[in-house]
Amino acid sequence: MVKPVGPSTASTRSYSEELFFFVICIYLTMFCGKVVLITGASSGIGADTATEFSKLGANVVITGRNKDNLDKISKACVEISPNKLKPLILIADMNNENDVEKIIKATIATFEKLDILVNNAGILETGSIETTSLDQYDRVMNTNIRSSYHLTLLAIPYLIKTKGNIVNVSSVTGLRAFPNVLSYCMSKAAMDQFTRCVALEVALKGVRVNAVNPGVIRTGIHLKGGMDDKQYEEFLKKCAETHALGRPGEVKEVTSVIIFLASDAASNITGATLPVDGGRHAMCPR
Ligand SMILES: NC(=O)c1ccc[n+]([C@@H]2O[C@H](COP(=O)([O-])OP(=O)(O)OC[C@H]3O[C@@H](n4cnc5c(N)ncnc54)[C@H](OP(=O)(O)O)[C@@H]3O)[C@@H](O)[C@H]2O)c1
Repeated sequence: MVKPVGPSTASTRSYSEELFFFVICIYLTMFCGKVVLITGASSGIGADTATEFSKLGANVVITGRNKDNLDKISKACVEISPNKLKPLILIADMNNENDVEKIIKATIATFEKLDILVNNAGILETGSIETTSLDQYDRVMNTNIRSSYHLTLLAIPYLIKTKGNIVNVSSVTGLRAFPNVLSYCMSKAAMDQFTRCVALEVALKGVRVNAVNPGVIRTGIHLKGGMDDKQYEEFLKKCAETHALGRPGEVKEVTSVIIFLASDAASNITGATLPVDGGRHAMCPR
């Protein structure tokens, strides 16, 4: 076959070029017409997940407590969305049952369906069995797992209708034990088991349920969780030893995996808890 020379146009592209453009076009419109609900979308992993889904054509519902941040993320979503779709912003405290109910009601009232749920909202607090309190246990467990349990049970009838899927944002602390983050580790271990159990329960109804398990990712969560700037710098430096790849992860490295798990590219994956942690789950550093 004679290959055309010079810049290719639609009529002069080779078969492999045509295939490449076809695949790219499919990828870029992968989530067109889909409705994606992301909790904790006002910062960090959730915020980037919202803009990435917007970039791929989805209608996104973004939730959190910080209105200013949500407004900023909403603007970024509109700018990057191929059809300039505006997110539905829902100010909601995940620990308030009425707020959680309103998230589903408003999503369905606006878009009449739900395709993908990303349970991402979470907090980090430090404390061992000697220093923790029941208040801390309740705060962390309620925010990190009870609220996701609640939202998922309300969302599941709609996800069954669309044969949609769920991506839970867990942590390597769900897969492995770490000292001094007791309630956080427990909440993420519960998230992992929640992922597997629900995956089995709804598999034959066509709904997939998976989780990502990030290692240390540069977001604000550690500073919000009580570290000062100096401690945080030391903590990030230590990632050279605690993560096999020798560095902390970046937000984009998590969102790309969330997008993958939510996409048809992962159509045969359910019940998975996927480490996105630079190999940390495979190590035993002290
Ligand atoms: N960064 C890491 O190293 C890392 C590692 C493993 C797992 N993760 C997990 O990744 C997820 C996202 O964390 P991130 O690192 O992106 O941190 P982040 O920037 O602090 O994001 C946390 C998000 O959760 C929301 N949130 C917290 N409590 C809430 C509540 N009561 N009601 C509603 N929203 C609430 C926050 O929104 P508002 O402040 O607006 O309420 C924010 O949007 C969490 O589940 C975290 O456990 C993070």
